Amino acid sequence: MSSIISIQQLNKVYDSGFVALKDVNLEIKKGEIFALLGPNGAGKTTLISTICGIVNPSGGTITAGGHNVVTQYRAARNIIGLVPQEISTDSFETVEATVAFSRGLFGKPANPQYVEKILRQLSLWEKRNSKIMALSGGMKRRVMIAKALSHEPDILFLDEPTAGVDVDLRRDMWEMVRGLRENGATIILTTHYIEEAEEMADRIGVINKGQIVLVEEKDALMQKLGKRELTLQLQTPLTELPAELNGFALELAKDGHELVYRFDSQSEHTGIAELLKQLGQQGIDFKDLSTSQSSLEEIFVNLVRDSK
Ligand SMILES: Nc1ncnc2c1ncn2[C@@H]1O[C@H](COP(=O)(O)OP(=O)(O)O)[C@@H](O)[C@H]1O
Ligand SMILES: [Mg+2]
Repeated sequence: MSSIISIQQLNKVYDSGFVALKDVNLEIKKGEIFALLGPNGAGKTTLISTICGIVNPSGGTITAGGHNVVTQYRAARNIIGLVPQEISTDSFETVEATVAFSRGLFGKPANPQYVEKILRQLSLWEKRNSKIMALSGGMKRRVMIAKALSHEPDILFLDEPTAGVDVDLRRDMWEMVRGLRENGATIILTTHYIEEAEEMADRIGVINKGQIVLVEEKDALMQKLGKRELTLQLQTPLTELPAELNGFALELAKDGHELVYRFDSQSEHTGIAELLKQLGQQGIDFKDLSTSQSSLEEIFVNLVRDSK
């Protein structure tokens, strides 16, 4: 698949001297959902803002749809929709007028049917004549999404879309995002919720302290990281594993008092039943057992810590 966004050697140093992005190289594939995961202050909003041409890079190049986002700003920006992290809330305009106006700003001809379609998709149609400032927070966020979609962008950025959002909006948003992707759009979302990345993304990029720490297909990441452990506290400590157990991913721990079995939590076949049967046959008794999972949360924390 070809890249729709190409970022090379991107650096951002704010006027304060703060280095917010360091040598970022990143390719976003056309038609994918890419989740940019990172703790607060990692540089997610800065990265998105530079791609959208809102923040000037200090070095490096970015192209969107082949257009340089600095020197060909208009052409690049026309194919981008941005739902910013902060929602602006002070408009006296109605929902429908705001979305239609936003479309016009991008030089697109009026298209009431299209505006109606996105308002309906976002459950905003009933509120189309309401003034934005009178809407609830969740409704305002829906308007921000409608505005971002108003000019039919090929690329949609969602900056922390579900931070503080209710369950309904979250569900609608994911449905909409999937629908957009089916129509060929590329979606980049930032989040510090791991579950969100897990649920939605095709690929995940982890950013920490302005640096991209990892970029990987979600499935591969989950496979790698979705390991579980079963720990058996043995009645009688073992000095070594009997040969009959060679076929299992086992390790002795705590001076032979514990047997640790690692298995893939993603797989249908964990092998635990066979293991317990073998242990029974070998006369290896255990007094207790426990399982633990390296959660994505943990993995993420480790990644971020290792990259310090
Ligand atoms: N205009 C600015 N001037 C100076 N520092 C900034 C500015 N905007 C953001 N920063 C700093 O850059 C870092 C990254 O911020 P941001 O991109 O908003 O992170 P994230 O979106 O991942 O939470 C933070 O430490 C933030 O304080
Ligand atoms: Mg942010």
